[in-house]
Amino acid sequence: MASGVFRDISKLSFDYVPEKLLHREEQWRRLEVMFEPVSQGGYSQNVLLVGSIGTGKTVTSKRFCTELAFKARKSGRSIDWTIVNCRQRNSEASTLLKMINYFDPNFPDRGFSSQELRKVLRKHIEKRAGHCVFVLDEVDALFRSGASDLVYFLSRLPEESDTLKNKVSLILISQRHVFDMLDMSALSTFKRTNVVEFGKYTKEQLFDIISARAELALLSGSYDDDILDLIADIASEWGDARFAIEMLEKSGMLANERMGDRIGTEDVRAAKAATYAFVTEERVAGLNRDQLLILLATARLLRNRAYTETSEVEKSYRIVCEEHDTKPRAHTQFYSHVKELSGQGLLDIKAKKGSVAGMTNMITMLDVPADVMVQQVERLLNEGGKKKKR
Ligand SMILES: Nc1ncnc2c1ncn2[C@@H]1O[C@H](COP(=O)(O)OP(=O)(O)OP(=O)(O)O)[C@@H](O)[C@H]1O
Ligand SMILES: [Mg+2]
Repeated sequence: MASGVFRDISKLSFDYVPEKLLHREEQWRRLEVMFEPVSQGGYSQNVLLVGSIGTGKTVTSKRFCTELAFKARKSGRSIDWTIVNCRQRNSEASTLLKMINYFDPNFPDRGFSSQELRKVLRKHIEKRAGHCVFVLDEVDALFRSGASDLVYFLSRLPEESDTLKNKVSLILISQRHVFDMLDMSALSTFKRTNVVEFGKYTKEQLFDIISARAELALLSGSYDDDILDLIADIASEWGDARFAIEMLEKSGMLANERMGDRIGTEDVRAAKAATYAFVTEERVAGLNRDQLLILLATARLLRNRAYTETSEVEKSYRIVCEEHDTKPRAHTQFYSHVKELSGQGLLDIKAKKGSVAGMTNMITMLDVPADVMVQQVERLLNEGGKKKKR
């Protein structure tokens, strides 16, 4: 597994779950408190983990469930758990299938309706002596594809019969609050207080995270604190640990390519450029069409200037809409999308100096080359168009 500067490159892979999570004590503690009754066999729990990209939601849920199951086993109870990525399986049937596969890996992957699959899943849970925790990762994809009824079904399972009572818990994960997407009847089982927020990591926190990861993945002597500091600094604009880890990996690969035995700052800079295109793609993948059009309008304006005004973006947005045969949204909705994009760290809004409060806003994009953004968004819009026509 060792090669060049790497001791073990697999420790940088996206699905590696570290033994120890850093700077997530508060979220961990909240999960522990909420799941205390579950591990005692007391009742079911439904929680929602929310936070922007790379804030450790998936990794925390995996580590947490692993420990929950481990502790239960030690005290003679059983907790099964499985995680489904709903973006990869954005229909009810394929999500159910993945859950059933946990109990029966040989279950045929076609030929059953959602209703039948629900029954099969229910039977499996009934047969189990212990509790089942289902983690629905990137669950907003399920809502967007109109399959929110599945969440409703799962959250109501424990109430269906005595054989299911206290047997199913749900952990939903999303980059944004999904309560608006849940209908009221499902909401009653999802207390609004059962939300665990994952904030963006600070530079110092990112430094600690990649420093721990570098120790596992890189040979000592192949990097120093300056390198880690530079990576943490770049990634702190997003507060995104995945970006930081990817940059560490890419920097190491670049050092290997030039047969170096140490990662240099130039490797990090080159890695930054290479990682951007990829990361931007991930970031924009979850946006709706309106948001993509607004982002495209902004990115075009920002190709040759640092800042632009909201009113200019709105003008450019109307032109972009025309090009893409789409009816532009009214101002209020347009602006709420702009705020949403800013919430996701894709745009940055600042009040213009000297303007009446709230009247003129300046917009910029944080550090992503505008050209890269234009290309990515145009590609996505064109793909979306093709899909629709089919
Ligand atoms: N607190 C942490 N300690 C150690 N590693 C972490 C921590 N937080 C995140 N990571 C690592 O950073 C990467 C991204 O984390 P993760 O996949 O959990 O993010 P996420 O919040 O699920 O992002 P997304 O919304 O894009 O799915 C993973 O490789 C993970 O192992
Ligand atoms: Mg995730």
